Amino acid sequence: MMTKKRLLSGMQPTGGGRLHLGNLEGALRPWVRLQDEYEMFCFIADWHALTTVADRRVDLAEASRQTAIDYLAAGLDPDRCAIFRQSDVPEHAELHLLLSMVTPVGWLERIPTYKEKRDLVRDNDTQVSYGLLGYPVLQTADIVLYRAHAVPVGRDQAAHIEISREIARRFNHIVEEDVFPEPEAVISEGSGELPGMDGRKMSKSYDNAIYLSDTPKQTQKKVNSAFTTPTKIHITDAGEPEGCVACKLRRVYDPDGYETQWDECRAGARGCGQSKREVAEIINAALAPVRARRAELEADPAFVDAVLRRGAEQARAAASETMGIVRRALRLMA
Ligand code: TRP
Repeated sequence: MMTKKRLLSGMQPTGGGRLHLGNLEGALRPWVRLQDEYEMFCFIADWHALTTVADRRVDLAEASRQTAIDYLAAGLDPDRCAIFRQSDVPEHAELHLLLSMVTPVGWLERIPTYKEKRDLVRDNDTQVSYGLLGYPVLQTADIVLYRAHAVPVGRDQAAHIEISREIARRFNHIVEEDVFPEPEAVISEGSGELPGMDGRKMSKSYDNAIYLSDTPKQTQKKVNSAFTTPTKIHITDAGEPEGCVACKLRRVYDPDGYETQWDECRAGARGCGQSKREVAEIINAALAPVRARRAELEADPAFVDAVLRRGAEQARAAASETMGIVRRALRLMA
């Protein structure tokens, strides 16, 4: 039998767990394309979300359900891909603990994502938790628990996958056995980085995103607020499409037709209002099937729960096999 290579990826259910266009184009659509070719594990990193919201009263169960709905609405198929929540598979925690014993603190302190988060709260060092420092160790556990060969992620995760490789290598070296493959990052290029309405990268934390769960009307309203060419006041003023959010979205969602719109914008032959109206319509049309599926799933929470239960069972089967190998390799078990 030909065994398929294993792929694993996941997202944090932060900010209510709802995913946006950047997540859809940069992660979900690539995952959906990969699910035939590989044995896929797509999970919801609810423990990772606690590294930033543990001190708030956030309903992570509901947020995780929203993320699961977006996974399914985007086309992840529970028959071809195990969809599960991290906290339903306690082996992630056990492996995180064991990997933490072989991970130098210095490695973790040097990771850019950690340094950024730490510096945001620099004046209050009680806010930097032990868990936040260990975030990449937990992420490594997520990956190597399934002995995944590859991890499809956005560019922002490259440093995390790199340290996963280092931790896996160090573990193998210490136990003198190739327990874990060194996971390969598969960076999805495709549409590149999707701009948010303010021109920065689309992100939950910047409050500049269009969500799969937004209505067409909310989408139009958000696009209307998008950053365009500041010096283009009148229709006849020349625009600069390269720096305009509406134009950049048009290029992503209308790859064959955008050039005419860009030319007209540059030539002052069309206004930003028209460009925004049109691109919002194009985005709404692209999202229509996803939103229709989303509405069905919202109305059927029992189905979503069943998907997560089945996914957790599949994940636990794979995870417990790995943990047997790990416990023996560390001589915790004969
Ligand atoms: N850190 C990832 C993010 O913020 C989420 C994540 C957690 C992840 N564990 C993972 C991604 C394992 C890939 C593999 O997007």
